[in-house]
Amino acid sequence: MPMVQEIDYGTPPVASETMVTLTIDGHAVTVPEGTSVMRASMEAGIKIPKLCATDMLDSFGSCRICLVEIEGRAGTPASCTTPVAPGMKVHTVSDRLRKLRRGVMELYISDHPLDCLTCSANGNCELQDTAGEVGLREVRYGYDGINHLSALTDASNPYFNFDPSKCIVCSRCVRACEEVQGTFALTIQGRGFESKVAAGMDEPFLTSECVSCGACVQACPTATLMEKSVVEMGQPEHSVVTTCAYCGVGCNFKAEMRGDQVIRMVPWKDGKANHGHSCVKGRFAWGYANHPDRITKPMVRAKITDPWREVSWEEAINHVASEFRRIQAKAGKDAIGVITSSRCTAEETYLVQKLARAAFGNNNTDTCARVCHSPTGYGLGKTFGTSAGTQDFDSVDESDVIVVIGANPTDAHPVFASRMKKRLRQGAKLIVVDPRRIDLVRQPHVEASYHLALRPGTNVAVLTALAHVIVTEGLVDRTFVEERCDTDAYADWAEFVSDPRHSPEATEAATGVPADLVRGAARLYATGGNGAIYYGLGVTEHSQGSTAVMAIANLAMATGNLGRRGVGVNPLRGQNNVQGSCDMGSFPHELPGYRHVANPEVRAIYEAEWGVTINPEPGLRIPNMLDAAVQGTFLGLYVQGEDIAQSDPDVKHVTAGLRAMECVVVHDLFLNETANFAHVFLPGATFLEKDGTFINAERRINLVRKVMEPRSGMGDWEATQAISNAMGYPMHYDGPAEIMAEIARTTPTFAGVSYEKLEQGAVQWPCNDAAPEGTPIMHIGKFVRGKGNFVITEYVPTDEKVGPRYPLLLTTGRILSQYNVGAQTRRTGNVAWHAEDLLEMHPHDASERGINEGDWVRLRSRTGETTLRALLTERVAPGVVYTTFHHPVTQANVVTTDYSDWATNCPEYKVTAVQVSPTNGQSEWQKTYHAHAVESRRIEAVPVGD
Ligand code: SF4
Ligand code: SF4
Ligand code: SF4
Ligand code: FES
Repeated sequence: MPMVQEIDYGTPPVASETMVTLTIDGHAVTVPEGTSVMRASMEAGIKIPKLCATDMLDSFGSCRICLVEIEGRAGTPASCTTPVAPGMKVHTVSDRLRKLRRGVMELYISDHPLDCLTCSANGNCELQDTAGEVGLREVRYGYDGINHLSALTDASNPYFNFDPSKCIVCSRCVRACEEVQGTFALTIQGRGFESKVAAGMDEPFLTSECVSCGACVQACPTATLMEKSVVEMGQPEHSVVTTCAYCGVGCNFKAEMRGDQVIRMVPWKDGKANHGHSCVKGRFAWGYANHPDRITKPMVRAKITDPWREVSWEEAINHVASEFRRIQAKAGKDAIGVITSSRCTAEETYLVQKLARAAFGNNNTDTCARVCHSPTGYGLGKTFGTSAGTQDFDSVDESDVIVVIGANPTDAHPVFASRMKKRLRQGAKLIVVDPRRIDLVRQPHVEASYHLALRPGTNVAVLTALAHVIVTEGLVDRTFVEERCDTDAYADWAEFVSDPRHSPEATEAATGVPADLVRGAARLYATGGNGAIYYGLGVTEHSQGSTAVMAIANLAMATGNLGRRGVGVNPLRGQNNVQGSCDMGSFPHELPGYRHVANPEVRAIYEAEWGVTINPEPGLRIPNMLDAAVQGTFLGLYVQGEDIAQSDPDVKHVTAGLRAMECVVVHDLFLNETANFAHVFLPGATFLEKDGTFINAERRINLVRKVMEPRSGMGDWEATQAISNAMGYPMHYDGPAEIMAEIARTTPTFAGVSYEKLEQGAVQWPCNDAAPEGTPIMHIGKFVRGKGNFVITEYVPTDEKVGPRYPLLLTTGRILSQYNVGAQTRRTGNVAWHAEDLLEMHPHDASERGINEGDWVRLRSRTGETTLRALLTERVAPGVVYTTFHHPVTQANVVTTDYSDWATNCPEYKVTAVQVSPTNGQSEWQKTYHAHAVESRRIEAVPVGD
């Protein structure tokens, strides 16, 4: 398998409808107006030597290697900074140019170590290549002058080295950090010979502002910034394009390999979601795939107090099938169910829900999206007619006002955040609605026009107050409403929001947001040009999560911000395949494509395809499964890729439910918290070990390609298929492509999707006869449901209230370097940044309680308590505390409650009344956590097959 080669055109592409024709070395070339001579030349297949230019960055013109001659012009202009002109005649080769280029190269090489043979970049070094291209044969100045060769390497970052002795001060790293990533962590310090690259205030990378996105490493044309994995293992020799398995941005990468070992992950420039960029997780945090904690053999045990016993796949699968059949014979066919995972591929989740519906004979299938974006499904379905974001990511380039509600893109969706920041630096305005002062509120060259720092739990009141201003101040786009929406529904809604009780002044006391800020933000969104809303779990994970989603949809319809580029309503999906797991019918009430199980026409499609009768009644949701387990009527569960004992709320109730079951099957990479209650463990495959698709937040169906064989010997879809066959319902797929063919046959929005098509490029669903190349922007001209539906959004305060015992509000979220329950990222170098969950507190709340920075504190709610250390910060308002949930020893979900969204049961993670008090250290339970964990993960030393 060869390396996937990407051409570097030197400067970025230019979008212009005016085309310009010129000749380069006698060849006629036609390119868009504004294109550089360098890019035009590359497009004609004529390579011009370069060092400071790369097509990920604007041209800079500092190295003077790329000189050309242009007839009629004096001198030798730099081709990277010279735009094409009609009729221009360019010459890229001449004796004069050769001499000039060699002279420049001589200067670079005279201050560069001559260790090419032992350099980590050997064979893949632009400096080395360019020296060859310009024909450098000698360095007349010698190598003994003053130089930088003794500069020390900074190896502080866990993933890359900075060796300044090899730096040619081309500024590509500095510009990548600014233009691509938007962090501005690097500078060129000093002048002339003293010039050097510095992180922050000339500090180690690890302690600087650097967020380890790796854009500078990718941009560096030498070995100055280099992945440690390349230093240790050598240059890769083949590569495979695949998709990141972390967040819902869905970045494409080249997995660069040597044999069956990954050497590095390089963001793919043709990736339609990431355009060659990445974050620290996707680029660097893949080491968990080889972590010694990985379980690679199936295991069973009779009781959860027994040690695990390694068995063959055959024994494990037969055991699962006989246990599930035994339970169904004893307690009825509804006594077992499945939980699918948004970490798994669309094909895998399709198969797991099919297992429930066709092999178990019930609709007891639910997914982790229950606890994150189920309100999105409900809310956007009710208002627009389908459960999905309306735009592609590129759309943000045309936004004038960007509204971020209950999302923290720089931590949770970093590559899209970089894109958004770029647009903001170009002048778009920003409104942030969030209890915390997230990084976007103020960053280098980015500042929000409005930050509505609302009290947790008051989203609906703020959103309705924004609508009040838009309606009562006459800012509604009446043409859009009259042409595109249900006008009766609009009239009812307009009357509702116009009520003075919804005014910013009337709601200020409840929301904590000054009325003038709400009014200003509403006016800006309604009148500032293209307005785009991006929201996250800070909207959905509330008792009124679905109401808030509908309130957002109302705002977009009222202002006409739908159905074109630059606008829209965009849920930022947390996990890689949240969209796909929902699309694939993982919910108990819906078959694939969001079609209700009660619909006989839809059931008929699957009954014909699967040869079974499908129950028209929705099955159990996760909380109902756990309730039924405690009541003794639900006894068997197959959980693929989820850790509900850590990620779901009210852990005591979750574990009580799991403990009450007779056969819990966990299918995962590691023995997670849920596995403590499991009777069967099936070893899962990492994304590097599987083929399939992940569907990102833009509805884009990205191919995931296997780069190595599953370490357990069996792919995840094969294990599900084997369980089904063992239970007597036959499945005989040859591979994920065949599963996708079945999805396309039975799901109208996927009718045009096939692996052959996806090999030509990722498409966004709907992809069918009406939209053969997919649908980047939804609801153009007409909503999926016909007329847009305004929904009344009465604000109902949550029952979770502060009081004398629990006077603070806890809200939870993620941090850049960690991912969800941390099962993957905790097993990588990312622990360098977030080795434990901390409790963010306002200094005022801390001093009232005698708490100092770094003190251990006890965090208590009515459901439980835990201890962690305090981080004092004004990012949170007084009265609000915040923590992450990445480390099982913290057990943040011990304190979250069983309150949930009224429509979907999505837990109210974002609002828990708590008290915080000083304590001496970790609780006894936490101190012994690791010992308990080791004990419960005991594996008996019995060889496979015995
Ligand atoms: S890794 Fe990313 S954030 Fe850090 S210096 Fe490089 S470009 Fe900037
Ligand atoms: S570190 Fe690399 S990219 Fe940055 S200035 Fe030096 S050579 Fe150029
Ligand atoms: S932004 Fe998301 S998809 Fe992209 S590399 Fe980071 S974690 Fe992966
Ligand atoms: S590549 Fe054009 S000046 Fe450096």
